[in-house]
Amino acid sequence: MQIAIIGAGNVGGTLGKAWARAGHSIIYGVPDPAQAKYRPTAEAAGGARLTTVAEAAQQAEAVVLAVPFDKVDAALAAAGNLSGRILIDVTNPLRMGASGLELALGFNRSGGEYVARHASGAAVFKTLNQVGIAVMADAAGYAAPPLMFVAGDDASRKPKVMGLVSDLGFKAMDAGPLSISRLLEPFAMLWIHMVLNQKEPSDSAFAFLAREGR
Ligand SMILES: NC(=O)c1ccc[n+]([C@@H]2O[C@H](COP(=O)([O-])OP(=O)(O)OC[C@H]3O[C@@H](n4cnc5c(N)ncnc54)[C@H](OP(=O)(O)O)[C@@H]3O)[C@@H](O)[C@H]2O)c1
Repeated sequence: MQIAIIGAGNVGGTLGKAWARAGHSIIYGVPDPAQAKYRPTAEAAGGARLTTVAEAAQQAEAVVLAVPFDKVDAALAAAGNLSGRILIDVTNPLRMGASGLELALGFNRSGGEYVARHASGAAVFKTLNQVGIAVMADAAGYAAPPLMFVAGDDASRKPKVMGLVSDLGFKAMDAGPLSISRLLEPFAMLWIHMVLNQKEPSDSAFAFLAREGR
């Protein structure tokens, strides 16, 4: 699939490389494509093209939003009309609070729903926000495939998103509608807490297990 990744940082770079390895074609949309700093990331993603956010978004079937949450408005404004596109929102609405990283919103609203309101015309899915890049880079070697929930309202496009998540080695699980982002973003915060504060390894992953024989 032609995948546009908006943002070529830790997550954008990791996902681009892993999807290129799985046979997908990557195009990066970045604020200033002429900057040399993005080139190693593009090279590592199968020689991905670097272009503007608008051009990348127009050329792909799936657009991955991989920017800090406070850059979401600017990135979506630059992307323009996303009608007919799948938009995979990997962001987490984080901010620095008095005692460290915390969620900037939640309970009865979510970053995923915020993104859907601003991503004109796109079928928005929240996924790939729940663990760190060490798992996204290489999901092999665990006792069971690492879990990755997928939430989104467009049932006809969800299998494609589940397929992209599975291509990374995750056990993709349909978590229901996009409003379930209200649970998936605190779930990501739990992972961050376990790694940052409880000092668990940064390649730790979640699993969702069925009893044998079921
Ligand atoms: N890091 C993780 O393990 C992890 C895991 C799951 C989810 N997430 C979430 O994923 C998102 C990205 O995290 P990250 O760690 O990859 O951040 P990062 O390393 O800081 O990278 C952010 C990228 O976004 C780009 N960017 C900023 N403003 C932009 C705009 N208006 N248009 C296009 N690109 C823009 C930046 O480009 P410049 O360098 O030019 O500013 C940079 O390439 C965050 O919302 C984070 O909460 C992170």
